Formats: sequence, structure tokens, C-alpha cells
Amino acid sequence: LHIIHIAAEMAPVAKVGGLGDVITGLSKALQRKGHLVEIVLPKYDCIQYDLIADLKALDVVIESYFDGQLFRNKIWVGTIEGLPVYFIEPHHPAKFFWRGTYYGEHDDFKRFSFFSRAALELLYEAGKRPDIIHCHDWQTAFVAPLYWDIYAAKGLNSARICFTCHNFEHQGTAPASELSSCGLDVHQMNRSDRMQDNSAHDRVNPVKGAIVFSNIVTTVSPTYAQEVCTAEGGRGLHETLKSFSKKFVGILNGIDTDAWNPSTDKYISAQFHADDLRGKAENKNAIRKHLKLSWSNSSQPLVGCITRLVPQKGVHLIRHAIYRTLELGGQFVLLGSSPVLHIQREFEDIAMHFNSHPDVRLLLKYDDALSHLIYAASDMFIIPSLFEPCGLTQMIAMRYGSVPIARKTGGLNDSVFDVNDNTVPEQYRNGFTFLPPTEQGLSSVMGRAFRYYSTNPEGWQQLIQKDMTLDFSWDSSASQYEELYERSVIRARTAAA
Ligand code: GLC
Repeated sequence: LHIIHIAAEMAPVAKVGGLGDVITGLSKALQRKGHLVEIVLPKYDCIQYDLIADLKALDVVIESYFDGQLFRNKIWVGTIEGLPVYFIEPHHPAKFFWRGTYYGEHDDFKRFSFFSRAALELLYEAGKRPDIIHCHDWQTAFVAPLYWDIYAAKGLNSARICFTCHNFEHQGTAPASELSSCGLDVHQMNRSDRMQDNSAHDRVNPVKGAIVFSNIVTTVSPTYAQEVCTAEGGRGLHETLKSFSKKFVGILNGIDTDAWNPSTDKYISAQFHADDLRGKAENKNAIRKHLKLSWSNSSQPLVGCITRLVPQKGVHLIRHAIYRTLELGGQFVLLGSSPVLHIQREFEDIAMHFNSHPDVRLLLKYDDALSHLIYAASDMFIIPSLFEPCGLTQMIAMRYGSVPIARKTGGLNDSVFDVNDNTVPEQYRNGFTFLPPTEQGLSSVMGRAFRYYSTNPEGWQQLIQKDMTLDFSWDSSASQYEELYERSVIRARTAAA
């Protein structure tokens, strides 16, 4: 198949969160299966350009329509992790992607509806006729209605559209009047409620539009797919999702097992693997020295936490985990920052408070290299999310022998199974889970984990070894996407014949 992803992020060059990892991981896995995979991204100024091979501007200018004007777009092409990537650079005073940042601008709706339209224009003009166009999250959700409303009639009609929502918290709604900039007209769509927000009728909702217009709709874990079909979890879209349940499915993400491999990782102090865990202890020592934590007691458990500090991640529980760890006699290392000012301030205060404490370190920043060392060094890994579409850190932690303590929600519920859970086969029980999002709930699960760690060292070692050998690679998830794509393409061809 010829598959084209249109996305707002791609790791490692343009990554804000897990979306960026998925674009790269899924594309590489599909490419390994023999498909032709290409990616279209905005040409942000803040991309890590040194990680792109053979970047060059093409000899063409693609003109795309927006806000009643023709934008002239320069097209660049380069290779990222072996994947061909196209970048769209509009020449226009609005400088949509020349802001030193990926998201969070006042005109994001314009920036990304522009990008969605320009990406389709690029495919159309460049003569690309893919089998699958895969768009992601609200930023490129516009692709689905634009494709069927405008481009299919123009002859770009070979493709089926797949839309993946990585987080229903972000739907990109805007006043209905803003939609016309990219050429869509709510009132002219053959049913005008197709992009209308379900709760505010004078607003449009790109995610809803993509659900209605796409051939395949996915989200990033089976449990989250169920949660968003409820009034509580669907954030206004549960009825829409339920009415399209035939084309909606949850597929658990994988992780990039090359980038996250403790036996080859160059960011950690000592490499290790399941059969020889000596390196893991060395990493624990290394990080303790590096962060000036006490390192007299090698069996004092180290709890790691790597996260964006946003309400979704259960910030009050993360804060509680620090104190609970001390109560239980462990050490705590947190790496993460917050885009929310008052949360960032609160954690800065806590960090200051523990400034020279022998057992706690809070590092309020994003630091990829250090994250590898924390995964490798920690014994346990805390993920108390209030909701979690998939979550990648629990899988990475397990690969590095750090046992997850996670809340039973979304993708965590599909990848972390309690050591005491008799409802799943023994070989899947890999961590500690809790359900009520309360301090008591977390206290008690952490108590259990610490007890297990100190009273059953042999069992703990086996648990680590099991976790490290579980398969969280993209292969099986990519096969599920492959099957969905193929079924959809075959259905279309049969219908056409
Ligand atoms: C979003 C979700 C996260 C998921 C990621 C990749 O960031 O919040 O749970 O793992 O997308 O799909």
C-alpha cells in the first residue's frame, strides 16, 4: 500500500508529545512490512534540522487556497529515520510556522486548517495517489472533510481516509465562521451538522468532522476507545462515536524498540539486558551521584516519574507520590515540566523545598538523554494518570526493568496488569495497579509495591526480567493498522467494480 501520514509532529525532529513518537514508530513498522510510507509536516522554524538527512527544496511552488487568497508554498523533502518526509513552507506575512513553537498560538485553528488544505493540495499537484491518507488529532482532522468535500471531486480520489485521535481532550473547536478560511462551508456540506460541535451549535469541531468523514477512525488503546463512548469520557463526542462504532476501533500504540533498548542505549551509564542486570544497578548509582542523592544503601528503592505536568497526568497524585515515597523509605526522581503556569510554580516550590534533600530530586525540564538514565536507574515507575489514551512511558519503563505503578485507565489498563490480578494469565502480570484516583488509592498501591520489593527480592528480579522481555514493539500494532487499511481499500474497490 501507499500510505501518507499528514501530521503536526514527528519524532525526533518535531516532537511535543507521544503523537510525534507514534508517527515515526508506526511509519517505520509499516515500511518494514513493505509498504510505501510518506509523511507531510509543516516546516516549523523550530524543527531539529540537524537530524534530517538530504533536506532540499523542490523546484516547485504549490499554490493553495486560504482565507480567500492563494498562498505560495515552497516544498522541502528530506529523510528522517529512513522515511521520506515533505515539509510545507508557506510564503506569507502570517508566518504560520515561523513562531519558534509548535502549538499554543492564538491562530492555531488557522495555522492547521491551512496546513491540512495545503497538504492535500501538495498530494494533488504532485500527482500522488495514495491508497491511505492517515491524519492525526484535531490539527490535521480537517483533511477528512476537505478530501471528500473538495479533493475527491477533483480526482484525488484513490484514497481511503484514516483518522486517529490521540486525545479527545483536544478537539480544536472554533467559531463556525472560521471554517470557511480553508474552503469548507458548514452549510453546504450535505448535512450541515457534520462538523457542528455537539454542545455549542455556533461552533465547529474538527475532530467530529474527521469522525464523520473518515473511512476508518481509531484511537490509541482498546480501553480508551470504550471510555470515550461514555458520557463521562467522550467529552461531547460519545454519541457521535457510538453512531459510527462500526468504523471506530482502539489499537494500542507500540514503542520504538531501537530507540529504547537498554542493551544498546548510549545515553545510559551501563548497558544491560534481562539476563544480566548488573548494569541496572550501576545506572542507579550513577544517577544518585549525578543528582547528589544519598547512595549509601543500594537496596533503597528508586521511584522514577517522567511526565508532562498537566492535569491529565494526575498532578496531585504525583505530588503525593513524592511524600509517600519518603514515608516508605525510598528515593524519588521526577523529570518533567508544565505548560500550565501555576502547576510549574507549585512544582518549583516543591523542588526548592527538597533542594538538598538526600532522597528527592525534581528536574522541571524536558531532557531526553536524562530520561533514558532515569528509566534505566529506577526500580519503580509512577503513572497515576486521571485518564490516559495510551501512554508510552509505562512500556518504556518496563523495557528498562522499572516496574510500573499505574492507574487502571485507558492504555495503562491495556498494558499494565497487577501482580495479584488473577483474571489475566500469569505471564502478563507485570506491575501494580490502582483504580480510585485518590491519595489513599495511591498510598496503598505504593505500599504493596514497596513491600514486594523489600520482602521478595527474588520475585522482584523475576518481575523485572519478565517486564524487560515483554513485546511492546510496533509490529503487532502496525499489523492491526495494516489490516484495517487493507480491508477498507478492498471494500472501496469492490464497491467501485
Ligand atoms: C497523547 C496521549 C497519550 C498517547 C499519545 C500517543 O499524547 O495523551 O496517552 O500515548 O498521544 O498516541
